[in-house]
Formats: sequence, structure tokens, C-alpha cells
Amino acid sequence: MKSKIIVTGGCGYIGSHTVIELIENDFEVVILDDLSNSTEKTLERIHKVTGVTPAFANIDLKNETETNKVFVAHNDAKGVIHFAAHKAVGESVQEPIKYYKNNFYSLLNSLEAQSKNGINNFIFSSSATVYGTPETLPITEKNETQRPFSPYGNTKKIAEEILDDFTKSNEAFSAISLRYFNPIGAHSSGEIGELPSGIPNNLMPYITQIAAGVRDKLMVYGNDYPTKDGTPIRDYIHVVDLAKAHVIAIKRLLKNDQEKSLEFFNLGTGLGYSVLDVINTFESVTNSKLNYEITDRRAGDVPCLYASTDLAKEKLGWTAERELSDMISSSWKWEQNLRNESK
Ligand code: UFG
Repeated sequence: MKSKIIVTGGCGYIGSHTVIELIENDFEVVILDDLSNSTEKTLERIHKVTGVTPAFANIDLKNETETNKVFVAHNDAKGVIHFAAHKAVGESVQEPIKYYKNNFYSLLNSLEAQSKNGINNFIFSSSATVYGTPETLPITEKNETQRPFSPYGNTKKIAEEILDDFTKSNEAFSAISLRYFNPIGAHSSGEIGELPSGIPNNLMPYITQIAAGVRDKLMVYGNDYPTKDGTPIRDYIHVVDLAKAHVIAIKRLLKNDQEKSLEFFNLGTGLGYSVLDVINTFESVTNSKLNYEITDRRAGDVPCLYASTDLAKEKLGWTAERELSDMISSSWKWEQNLRNESK
């Protein structure tokens, strides 16, 4: 019999790629999503790629009663991968209460409902933002966490503290927190990818929308950082590599292989690329020219972030395999498919 995994936020960007990897690894998937930043059409897209339509419940996890009901209905599940959260850094600065309410109520309701139903394995979608402005690079899991700049980032840091308290209070319960660096890219089929609503906040979807003629010009936020070309450096990671790490992490918990009841892993490539590196690679991979302008720094951006990947390699046996050019070409393929669909 297939092991059942509940994926909250499974219609979203990283969630949908993870659902595909789970199905391809012979798991049965149940998606819980309120579609606040995603669409039900993702289910059809997942079917196109895998031949399977996962079970789906349109649930707002802020609602305790609804959450309890759905966990009772799926109390044969073996674990939960929790992606459901708001994630726009800028919006979280404008509307902190919305972020704290949504990201905490959904986390707390899931934890309570699942543990009541004996579902004691939990993978959390965290972020490198918990390291704040790191003092040493590459960032290892031993780096101190810091108060992140944004309320969004703070929800990730506090959620990890909640998981720490919860796993200590509940012996049966285990969790792995995966700290993502900068996920970009799309499924190689071109069927699944990032679907930003409105103006994208992040670099890659902005770039592909410019190349597709949807937007006019990229603002490069500052070229006076202490980096090789003055633009900030990030560790971009292919979303499919990231999705595969989730499957490995949930298998680790199902096999009871974890060394502690709460573990943390960085998910990155260990390589840092500047904004100009990304622009130049995009131009050469797609043989196009991007319209961009250097402008002021964006509040809260740190100069340089890249991961140490040693721990994930040692304990999970996972390393990212896909290069920046794959990330860019798959993002571009997805963007072109989206534009063709909307014609
Ligand atoms: N950038 C631009 N112009 C844009 C968008 C981004 O120059 O229009 C630059 C940013 O200044 C930054 C780089 O591109 O230097 C990457 O920016 P992103 O917004 O794509 O990613 P961030 O590193 O700011 O944020 C990401 C995730 C967050 C997470 C954070 C953790 O999106 O969820 O990493 O460090 F909190």
C-alpha cells in the first residue's frame, strides 16, 4: 500500500513540484490548499505530468474546525509537508498581522490536528532568511539565527521555535525544517512553474516577464554592495532539486532515521551568483537582451548569502544537481508556455 502524505499549499510553486516528486516516488498525496495564491488548475497540470490527480481539499487552515475535520478524514496519512503560508516579503512589512495570523494559525492548527490523529511526521518549509545578515559564509546550520528583517521572515524563525517547543513536548513527534535559499526554475515538462500574482517580487519571474514582453524594465536594486560586481549574491536552487529534498526528508522520518526530533537542513547549491550573473546567463541561454536599470537598494536586502551544503549531503545524501543555466531555461520554457496558453 502507498504511504499517504498530506501536502499543505500543494497547489503552490514549491508544493506542486514536490507533489510531482512524491507521486513519482509512489506516495499517495492529499493536497490541502485555500488557493489564496494558487489555482486549482495546478491539479490538471500535475495530472498531465504524472498521470495522477491527487486528492484535493480547498481548506483554509486558519479555520480550526475545518482543519480538524480534514485531518480526521485522512488520519491514515503518515506525514505532513507544510508549505501553506504567505511569502511576499514587502507585503509582510505592510501587513504584518495578516502574515502572523495566516502563517501561525495554519501551522498551529496543522500541528494540533495532525498529532491528535497520530500523524507524527512533519516537514517544514523554512528559509535562509532565518540567518539574517550572516557573519560567516558559507552559511552552515550552526550559524546563529537572527531576527529577520521582515515579518514574513520572522514567521519562519518563530515557526522553527514553535517546532522546537512542540517536538520537545511530544515524544512521538518529529520534524525537519528545510531552509531554502533562492528557489527558481520550473519542471522540465514546462507544465508546472511559479505563478506570481500581480507584479513579481522576486528576480527570476520578473526577468522572464520582461523577456516575454509583459513588463518593461528590470530595476536592479543597487550595485554598491561589497561583492565582485556590486550586486547582491544569492544561492539560486532549482525547484526540482528542492522538491526532491522534501521526498528524501519525509522518507527519513518515515524510516525513523532522524537523529533528533527536530532537524534543520540548508537547501542550496553552495554557489553564489550576483544579480548581474543571473541577467548575463539569462541573456546567453535565451539569446536575448534584457532591459534593465540600476536603481537604489531595496530595504532589507543582504549583500551575500550562500549555503554550506555539507550537512544535507552527509545526513540526507542529497545534493542539488541542476545548474543555473537549467534553472533559467526551465523558467523561460514555463513562461513561454504560460503566454501561449493565455493567447
Ligand atoms: N532583485 C532585483 N530586482 C528585482 C527583484 C530582485 O535587483 O526586481 C534582486 C534583489 O535585490 C536580490 C536578488 O535580486 O539581490 C534576489 O532577490 P529575490 O527577491 O529574488 O530573492 P531574495 O533573496 O530577496 O528573497 C528570497 C526569497 C525570500 C526569502 C529570502 C531569504 O524570496 O522568501 O530569499 O534570503 F526570505
